[in-house]
Amino acid sequence: MKKRVLSLVLALVMVLGLAACGGGNDAPKDNNQSQTSQPAPADNKTPDPAPAADKKTYNIGVSIYQFNDNFMTLYRNELENYFGTLNSDTVEYKVNIQDGKNDMAEQTNQIQNFITQGMDLIICNPVQTSSADTLIDLAVDAGIPMVLINREPLGVDANGNTVDESYPGIVDNDKVCYVGADARQSGTYQGEIVAALDNKGDMNGDGKVSYVMIIGDPENPDAQYRTEFSIKALTDAGVEVEELTAQIGNWDTNQGQQIAQNALNQFGDQIDVIFCNNDGMALGAAAAIEQAGRKVGENILLLGVDALEECQQMVQNGTMTGTVLNDHVGQSHAAVDVAVQLLNGEAIQNYYWVDYVKVDANYFK
Ligand code: BGC
Repeated sequence: MKKRVLSLVLALVMVLGLAACGGGNDAPKDNNQSQTSQPAPADNKTPDPAPAADKKTYNIGVSIYQFNDNFMTLYRNELENYFGTLNSDTVEYKVNIQDGKNDMAEQTNQIQNFITQGMDLIICNPVQTSSADTLIDLAVDAGIPMVLINREPLGVDANGNTVDESYPGIVDNDKVCYVGADARQSGTYQGEIVAALDNKGDMNGDGKVSYVMIIGDPENPDAQYRTEFSIKALTDAGVEVEELTAQIGNWDTNQGQQIAQNALNQFGDQIDVIFCNNDGMALGAAAAIEQAGRKVGENILLLGVDALEECQQMVQNGTMTGTVLNDHVGQSHAAVDVAVQLLNGEAIQNYYWVDYVKVDANYFK
């Protein structure tokens, strides 16, 4: 009798043990790999409630110009996370994020597939801003709302003024909008950080600020405006400037390093400032500066944009002069919020702007 009770207890313990092992899928979600945002895992203790009859599912296709980009990786992960937080008992956002691989043909194909798949909305980070109108037309013809992000299709400036008459523009469509930051502001902040220094950036004391400009991508307004407005802020502050060289680094760390290394070899102590259109390239330039035996803050200055975590630390420890916060959280949330408005059939604006923030040594005081 005792034996039977014991084996019953043992069997019970095993059953309970197995149930505990099978309970709860708590594997962390890898945001870099995952393409689809899922609703929160069901709690196995209570049976899954049958989906409410009126639960809405929205399918959203996202095409990012290139996954291999520091800033856009932060951006797309936050975009996916934020959509995930909006899932509820009554609504589910299924997000399919594709890598445009910096290839316009690839991206066009992705947008066409999204349309064939009957996506409810498309979020597009164009590979080429000059081809954005083609992508907009595809979505508009299919009756699918489109939110463009990060790469501003030219045609209308930040104040809503038409700058290119031939561009059909986002303003013609009530289901298309652009969410971004005004790159003029980021360039201006870079220049102001330099102009605010006691020597106004003239590190070698020769009476002028001689600079190297490392450009992101000549087709991208972020690159064009940062290049132009960083220097404009210096000249507006009455500083004499001299461009030693301006080279295209495609937003890329290795290319930034190579360009900075060549410039340091060629121009040596003549260089007062290295301006980089983004932090990715500034990280490369920082490595080249160190290899050349130069010291940021003592005999050279280094500026970036984005305020990547590692660059914020560098500004704090003095190995970078300054950067500008490109608010990927604010921008991705604004993009998702307007997407939800579009899905709900609400009226939207055509342009949404998120402010940059100046990040120099004072920012941390
Ligand atoms: C960022 C860059 C990024 C680019 C991609 C810019 O706003 O500053 O880091 O490479 O967007 O389009």
